Amino acid sequence: MENVIEVKKLRKEFKAYSSRAGLKGAFRDLFTRNYKIVPAVNDINITVKKGEMVGYIGENGAGKSTTIKMLTGILTPTSGEIIVNGMNPHKEREKFVQTIGVVFGQRSQLWWDIAVQESFRLLKKVYKVSDEDYEQHMQHVIRTLDIEPLLDKPVRKLSLGQRMRCELAAALIHNPPLLFLDEPTIGLDVLVKLKIREFLKEINEKYNTTILLTTHDLSDIEALCERVVMLDEGKVIYDGALRELKEKWGDQKELHFQFLKKVNIKTVQNVTSGLPVEWEVDEKDQTFIAILEDRDELISQVIAKVVAAFKIKDVKINETSTEEIIRKIYEKGAVEVG
Ligand SMILES: Nc1ncnc2c1ncn2[C@@H]1O[C@H](COP(=O)(O)OP(=O)(O)OP(=O)(O)O)[C@@H](O)[C@H]1O
Ligand SMILES: [Mg+2]
Repeated sequence: MENVIEVKKLRKEFKAYSSRAGLKGAFRDLFTRNYKIVPAVNDINITVKKGEMVGYIGENGAGKSTTIKMLTGILTPTSGEIIVNGMNPHKEREKFVQTIGVVFGQRSQLWWDIAVQESFRLLKKVYKVSDEDYEQHMQHVIRTLDIEPLLDKPVRKLSLGQRMRCELAAALIHNPPLLFLDEPTIGLDVLVKLKIREFLKEINEKYNTTILLTTHDLSDIEALCERVVMLDEGKVIYDGALRELKEKWGDQKELHFQFLKKVNIKTVQNVTSGLPVEWEVDEKDQTFIAILEDRDELISQVIAKVVAAFKIKDVKINETSTEEIIRKIYEKGAVEVG
């Protein structure tokens, strides 16, 4: 299979200015400013094959958007190599943009004051899409994303969810083989989220569209991406199957207890002392959560002890969530996957 994205030792440094303290400092800052060089993206290697849907994740400031800006030719790298769709995104700009679609959830690509369909019409010209192709492809996109009633409204009058659906449609006008989505579901309600997910799945199946997706909503990733690339402080700390990540790190269970009477965490901890269990309390609904290794025997022991000591209102056994797994990995900082 061909590689759609090939990135070698890609690096982007920014100058981070620091201000000096006090009035004197501020005055000095006017003339010379102190700065240090911070690598936002630190020599990363990534290869993406045609038709893959890759989740690009990491905490705030990890370098995800910076990577996407370089991959789409908006930013020039400090060093390293980028080949996307067989081109250098920055150098072959005009030809290149015909082959990609981009959505930045944080920022609109549409013209604020004109009706959505006018934006579409302009983009259709920019991308030199034929009337036939437009009709055939966009009718379907418009119907699936349910934006027909929005087309004659100016973008500034749309709600966030309405606008995001239009943004996505706009990114697809030329039916690009490669889509970059930077937080496309930010702030959307569940129904719109599901609609967008379904739609992305559909175009991936129908056209074998390659998708690189960043999101803080891991359920997006779980629904769409078999592969995740995890970034931490500009470095790739994991690149592989989401499933493997869960198998390797999700070896824990959570027991959620609610008691009939008010109980103190110390007493609960005492009851299971000697067993390898960590307790947390969810103050909001007075749930006591035991986090422990996923061993049947241990789980039975803990439940038996707790049940013997307190009157139980509710018990639940949960797998550790992907969120929990990812949080653990960030805390630890690095993963080796064999
Ligand atoms: N234009 C810029 N000038 C200076 N520093 C920048 C610039 N753009 C980004 N940075 C810094 O680079 C780092 C990575 O930022 P980036 O936007 O890529 O993070 P991100 O992973 O997309 O985070 P988020 O999840 O918050 O969107 C941050 O420390 C940020 O402050
Ligand atoms: Mg970002």
